[in-house]
Amino acid sequence: MNMNKITNEINNIFYGVTSLPVIAAPMFLISNPDMVMACCQNGIIGSFPALNQRSCEGLDDWIKKIRAGNKIFAKENPDKIIAPFAINIIVNKANPRLKDDLQICIKHKVPIIITSLGINQDLIDTVHGYGGIILHDVINIRHAKKAIDAKVDGLIAVCNGAGGHAGTLNPFAFIGELRSFYNGFIALAGCISKGSDILAAQLMGADFAYMGTRFITTSEANADNEYKEMIKTAGTSDIIYTDKISGIPANFLKKSLTKSGIDIDLLANSDTLDAIIKNEIKAWKNIWSAGQGAGAIKDTLSIEELIFNLTKEYNNALYRYNSASDSIN
Ligand SMILES: Cc1cc2nc3c(=O)[nH]c(=O)nc-3n(C[C@H](O)[C@H](O)[C@H](O)COP(=O)(O)O)c2cc1C
Repeated sequence: MNMNKITNEINNIFYGVTSLPVIAAPMFLISNPDMVMACCQNGIIGSFPALNQRSCEGLDDWIKKIRAGNKIFAKENPDKIIAPFAINIIVNKANPRLKDDLQICIKHKVPIIITSLGINQDLIDTVHGYGGIILHDVINIRHAKKAIDAKVDGLIAVCNGAGGHAGTLNPFAFIGELRSFYNGFIALAGCISKGSDILAAQLMGADFAYMGTRFITTSEANADNEYKEMIKTAGTSDIIYTDKISGIPANFLKKSLTKSGIDIDLLANSDTLDAIIKNEIKAWKNIWSAGQGAGAIKDTLSIEELIFNLTKEYNNALYRYNSASDSIN
C-alpha cells in the first residue's frame, strides 16, 4: 500500500513537512511551548490552545519562543524535518479573547489554526488571506458538512472515547461516511496511543492521527505527576463520559472526581455540580480529562523518545500489513 497517497493539497503540504502523520492535539492547561517545539523538531505537528496563555501578550511571547527555538534547531540540524505548529482557537461566544488572539495569529502568520466549538466564516477567510490552513474539529456529519461549506482545509473527526470533549461516533462509521462525500484532509481523533493505531487510522481512510491523551504523560507536558500516574494505571473502565463537569460531554478520569469528593453514582442524577458552579472545584484543573486510550499508556517518556517509539511501531505495523497483503496476492 502506498502511504503517500495525496488526496488534496493539504496532504501534499503536510506529508512534505512531517516524518510521521501525527498532530499532537491541543490540550487545555497541558500543552506548552516545550511540547510544541519537541513535536515540531521530531517531525510531527505540535499545537496548543491559545487560551493556555493567560494573556494576548503571553500568546505573542509563546509564538516568538516556538519560532526562535525551531529556527535555532533547524540551523544546528540542517538535515532534520521540522514540522509546522498549530494554534487552537475556541470559536464560541464564551471566548472573550477570540478577536485579539486571532490578531496575534495573523501578525505571526501562524501556519495552522485549529478551530473548535463553532464555525466563524470571517476567521476562516482571514486565515486564508495570509496563507494559513484551517483544520476544524467535528463530531458528526452535520458539523462536518457545515465546515466543508465554510471552506475549511481539513476536518478533525473526534470520535468516541477521545480525551476532552469527545464525540460518540465509532471511527469506522464516521470516517467511512465522511469519505463517501469528502476527499479532503481528515485527521482522526480518539484513543490513538500506539504507532500501529496511526497506521490503522490511515487504513480506515484518515490521513493523519490526532493524539491527545498519549502526550499527557510525556515529561514535557504541563500535568501533575499524580495526573500522569492516574493515566498510566487507568483502564477503559476508569474513564467517565459526562456533561456534568464542563457542561459539554467530555471524558474524565473517575479517580480525579472521587479525589475531589464527587460521588460518581450520584453524578447522573445531578445538574452541573454545585461545587463546580461555585468554582470550588475546577474542571480540567482539579478534574482531569483523559480518553479511553489511557489503557494502552504505561510510561513517561520524553516527546523525542515517544515519537521514536511511535515511528518504530508504525513501521513494524506497515511491514506486517505489507507482508500480509503480499501473501494474499
Ligand atoms: C486534558 C485535555 C484537554 C483538552 N483541551 C482541548 C482544548 O483546549 N481544545 C481542543 O480543541 N481540544 C482539546 N482537547 C481534545 C484534544 O485536542 C483531542 O481532540 C483529543 O485529546 C484526542 O483524543 P485522545 O485524547 O483520545 O487522543 C483536550 C483533551 C484533553 C485530554
